[in-house]
Amino acid sequence: MSVIHQSLSTSISSSSSTFLGHNNLKSIKSSNVSIPGRINVVIECVATPSAEITAYKTKVSRNENMGKLQAGYLFPEIARRRTAHMLKYPDAQVISLGIGDTTEPIPEVITSSMAKRSYALSTVEGYSGYGAEQGEKQLRASIAKTYYENLGIEEDDVFVSDGAKSDISRLQVLFGSKVTMAVQDPSYPAYVDSSVILGQTGQFQKDVEKYGNIEYMKCTPENGFFPDLSATRRTDIIFFCSPNNPTGYAASREQLTRLVEFAKENGSIIVYDSAYAMYVSDDSPRSIFEIPGAKEVSMEVSSFSKYAGFTGVRLGWTAIPKELLYSDGFPVAKDFNRIVCTCFNGASNIAQAGGLACVSPEGIKAMHEVVGFYKENTDIIVEAFNSLGFKVYGGKNAPYVWIYFPGQSSWDVFSEILEKTHVVTTPGGGFGPGGEGFIRVSAFGHRENILEACRRFKQLYK
Ligand SMILES: Cc1ncc(COP(=O)(O)O)c(C=O)c1O
Repeated sequence: MSVIHQSLSTSISSSSSTFLGHNNLKSIKSSNVSIPGRINVVIECVATPSAEITAYKTKVSRNENMGKLQAGYLFPEIARRRTAHMLKYPDAQVISLGIGDTTEPIPEVITSSMAKRSYALSTVEGYSGYGAEQGEKQLRASIAKTYYENLGIEEDDVFVSDGAKSDISRLQVLFGSKVTMAVQDPSYPAYVDSSVILGQTGQFQKDVEKYGNIEYMKCTPENGFFPDLSATRRTDIIFFCSPNNPTGYAASREQLTRLVEFAKENGSIIVYDSAYAMYVSDDSPRSIFEIPGAKEVSMEVSSFSKYAGFTGVRLGWTAIPKELLYSDGFPVAKDFNRIVCTCFNGASNIAQAGGLACVSPEGIKAMHEVVGFYKENTDIIVEAFNSLGFKVYGGKNAPYVWIYFPGQSSWDVFSEILEKTHVVTTPGGGFGPGGEGFIRVSAFGHRENILEACRRFKQLYK
């Protein structure tokens, strides 16, 4: 059989570890789960913590910002529901097109470099311990050359990291609790959640499904998935992801030029997330630094996760130009350097060896093949939903397809698809109120699973 048949134990231990310790799995229970802004949904709850609740309490008060967060982080919540579904249907062949994790093997040109570095660590000559917090010089230089040649980004502007998500949180630590921030709505949840944790926001407002003090820049088919900047309040920080997760839309050069002008007029800093830049297949910019003047108002976070299958290896980077200054003229990069030295001890040396192989000519070719494979998957998914008469967005410049279900709750659609096809998707509402009525289908999957999922979608919606 060509479809995935994951064993339950694998699925529990690999994807739900934040929630399910091995000893914690007690019983299957039915419980009422409240999704922000949605009616309560009854789901099969998979576990309850096994530790007996003790009467003893410390004298430490809970960080009140943690209390503001709504439910769990989106993707562990999806994983929990998948696990619950697998417990309910132990024989089902569940296909996960939900959390956007890569599935294809890492090209050997890359793993062989990591293996070599790994073995060298067992030798006196090859051993190395802590490296530079900012990353290895050669890797920083190669990233600058590969992704920013002729854009004025140099080796020492690049900070190598253990992935874009960690850098997003480190950047929030850099900015502190007093800044205001804007996000695309819908957007990758880490921007909003890390902002809440840092204390930049007010409480969650249930009526509008938004946190106070965050500017939600609505991105819908009506505005071509680019925010109406004339109606956007000034904020200190603007998180902007292109190609966008979840809508799959890549902003054009003209739109990004307007964004940079907007930031300049307002004295704002754009944090540009280019984690999917290699998926761009038209002439949309791959980097914000392609836009004239962007270096004075922008920084860029990026990652090897979706290019080389490094979601488990963990390697990314943040590029901060020397031209980016605070209001007092102090360089932002200098402060970020301080944060990196305090909060981070550098990316794994084995991962960095892999990163160097990624940006070698053979590695770049291999990454394009991986990206090309997922792009073919995307075409298959787009074709399936188009043939069913849905309004389908994204897909062209990103491994995500954004499908419109007018008038329906995205969590209801998610549940119906899971229940009737055993395919895990992601409800658009999980990415912000602007995602309501949409479902995100990820193109990360083995080809036979993508084909099988599409066959099931066609069966469900024919
Ligand atoms: C827009 C965006 N940024 C960042 C990340 C996280 O990347 P990393 O694996 O490098 O932490 C993701 C992962 O899905 C993403 O979609």
